[in-house]
Amino acid sequence: MPLVPPYIQNLSNYVPGQSIEQLEREGIKNIYKLASNENSLGPSPMAIEAIKKSLKNIHRYPDMVGYDLRTKLAKKFNIKMDNVILGAGSEGIISTIMRTFLLNDDELISAENSFIGFKVLADASGKKVNWVPMKNYKYNLEAMAEKVTEYTKIIYIANPDNPTGTYITRKEFDAFYKHIPERVLIILDEAYFEFAQSELDYPDSMTYRYDNVITLRTFSKAYGLAGLRIGYGFAHDTLIRNLMKVKEPFEPSLIALAGGMAAMDDHSFLEDTLSMNKTGYNYFNKELNSLGIKTIPSVANFITTVWDTEDQAEKITTNLLKKGIVVRNLHPFGWSKCIRISIGTDNENQKTISTLKGLIS
Ligand SMILES: Cc1ncc(COP(=O)(O)O)c(C=O)c1O
Repeated sequence: MPLVPPYIQNLSNYVPGQSIEQLEREGIKNIYKLASNENSLGPSPMAIEAIKKSLKNIHRYPDMVGYDLRTKLAKKFNIKMDNVILGAGSEGIISTIMRTFLLNDDELISAENSFIGFKVLADASGKKVNWVPMKNYKYNLEAMAEKVTEYTKIIYIANPDNPTGTYITRKEFDAFYKHIPERVLIILDEAYFEFAQSELDYPDSMTYRYDNVITLRTFSKAYGLAGLRIGYGFAHDTLIRNLMKVKEPFEPSLIALAGGMAAMDDHSFLEDTLSMNKTGYNYFNKELNSLGIKTIPSVANFITTVWDTEDQAEKITTNLLKKGIVVRNLHPFGWSKCIRISIGTDNENQKTISTLKGLIS
C-alpha cells in the first residue's frame, strides 16, 4: 500500500489569489488587492481592541467549548448554545463535517465550479463527489436533487455562491428540500449572508430550521477578520454534539474567540461595510456595463465579469496585475472567461475602472 493514498496524490494544489507580499517581492508597488473577497475597510476596530487585550493570555489554551462566543451567538439567533459550533473559519467547520459524517461508500453532491474551498476538502475526503453543472451561473437544484441516491450523505450549497455571486431563492430551496431524504445532510454555506440578507426572496436559513441542515457563517467577510480564522455553524444539537467530538480540540484560537466576540458588537463597522459594498457594487455594475463588459448580478461583496474569450480574460488579468490591481481570474474555478472583482473602497473601485478603461481602449 502506498504511503500517500492515490486520491491524495492525484489532488492538485489549491491556487490562491496572489498575496500582497508575493507581488511586492516581484517588484509591483501600490497594490490594490481585490482578489479574495476580503473587507477593504480593514478589520472591525472593536475586534482589534479585543484581540490586543487577549494577547496577555496567549500562554493559556483557549476555552475548548468556546462557551462565551457560542452563548453570544445563540442569544443573537434565539437558539441554544448546543446548536452552535465554532471553527477556524467556516472552512474549518466544513473539514470537521467531512471527518464526522462520511463513511465507506458515502457520496457528496454539489455544483460544479462553485466554491473552491469546498472542492478541495471534498476531493481530499476520497469520497465520490457528484459535481452538477450550474445553469445560468446558478446552482441547478433540480438537477442536484435528481442525483440523490441511497449513497448520498452530504449536499453542499453556497448561498450566495462564490464565484458567481448568484443566489437561490427561498422558493427554490423549499422545492428542492422536499426531494431530499432526512438522512442526507445539507450544508448551507452563507459566508456572504450579511451582504445578501436584504434580498426579499433570499432564504435566511436561520428563520426556518431543519434537522438535517447545517448553516455556516463567518467573520471573514463582513467583519473583516479573514486572517483570524473564525467561523460558526448552526444545526440540530445531535449534529453539533458529534461535530464537537471531532473538531480540533483547541480550534478556534484564543485571539479568534476574542475577536469574534467583539466584532459581533461592532454594529457601526458592519453598517459601514454594507454601505461601502452597496455603493461599490452599484458603481462597478454601472461602469462595467457602460464599458460593454458583461457582469453576473451578484448579492455578495464581489462582481464577476464575463469576457468573450479565455485569452482576453487572461490578458486583462495580467495587465491589471502589472498596474498593481489584483483581481481573480476564474480559470482555476472552471470559468476561464471570467474575472471576479471584489468590491473595495471608492478609491480602489475607481482606480480599477480607470485602469480597465485604459486597457480596453
Ligand atoms: C462560499 C464561501 N464559503 C466559505 C468561505 C471561507 O470562509 P472562511 O474564511 O470562514 O473559512 C469563502 C471564502 O471565500 C466562501 O466564498
